[in-house]
Amino acid sequence: MANINNPDIMRQQYNDSSKLDIRIALHQRYSTNRQPFGDWIMEHYHIQPGMRVLELGCGTGNMWHDAAKWLPKDASLTLTDFSAGMVKTAMANVPALPNISFQQVDIQQIPFEDNSFDLVIANMMLYHVPDLKKGLSEVARVLRPEGRFICATVGAGGVYWWLENTLGIEEGKVYPFSLQNGADILEPHFAQVEMDQREDGLRVTNVEDLVDYVLSMASFSGLKEWPRDMLRERLLAQAVDGVIAIPKEYGLFIASQPV
Ligand SMILES: C[S@@+](CC[C@H](N)C(=O)[O-])C[C@H]1O[C@@H](n2cnc3c(N)ncnc32)[C@H](O)[C@@H]1O
Repeated sequence: MANINNPDIMRQQYNDSSKLDIRIALHQRYSTNRQPFGDWIMEHYHIQPGMRVLELGCGTGNMWHDAAKWLPKDASLTLTDFSAGMVKTAMANVPALPNISFQQVDIQQIPFEDNSFDLVIANMMLYHVPDLKKGLSEVARVLRPEGRFICATVGAGGVYWWLENTLGIEEGKVYPFSLQNGADILEPHFAQVEMDQREDGLRVTNVEDLVDYVLSMASFSGLKEWPRDMLRERLLAQAVDGVIAIPKEYGLFIASQPV
């Protein structure tokens, strides 16, 4: 994943939510597991009254569209992202509740006191962080001793693996933070790490949506910025009875006892 944690490319990719919106829409439309991914993640949080919650790299904030369902009235939620454009989109998507605030924050330099949060969240973003050790030590620092850090990520045998094979990319890329290497990366920062994986897949029936998906991440994934027609042809060659079936490997880590 050549550019996946290159800061300049990341800034361009997430300057606003337009590219991420395309990818979220594909998963919402074609996932075989009909429980929204955000709801599956939320079920792991168990947010109790009085808890202080921080999300890093919140993106569009779409997981919190029904925030009142998951967040007790006297718990607080701080939604953050390093992109001002993403914070703006999140503010538009998330209900304006008095216990939810928004801030522009880079995980590598979290502007909060030690031991400030009961739950820290970072979904689908740790693989973008140039200095991940620094980012995780910042998370451990702001987490209370009995707090939890929950981070969703991808597995090496999912959508990107399928796309790399289908499009003939042979760079042997390794994700900087995946379901396979995530526990090893978290363990220096947390005494306890557990993983949970979700059953899912994609069954795409409109190839144009998949072409848009590939083009939305070509800049950082190493996927080729081929002409649209060529990309469409390659992807359509995988269709059986009008369906392109793609494996998904998504899951999360629950880390506790910050060290
Ligand atoms: C793939 S999106 C995931 C968004 C959201 N968490 C989700 O699961 O839909 C990655 C997000 O991480 C943010 N991001 C990337 N590097 C970051 C950093 N160093 N600190 C904070 N946010 C970062 C991006 O702006 C983007 O919104």
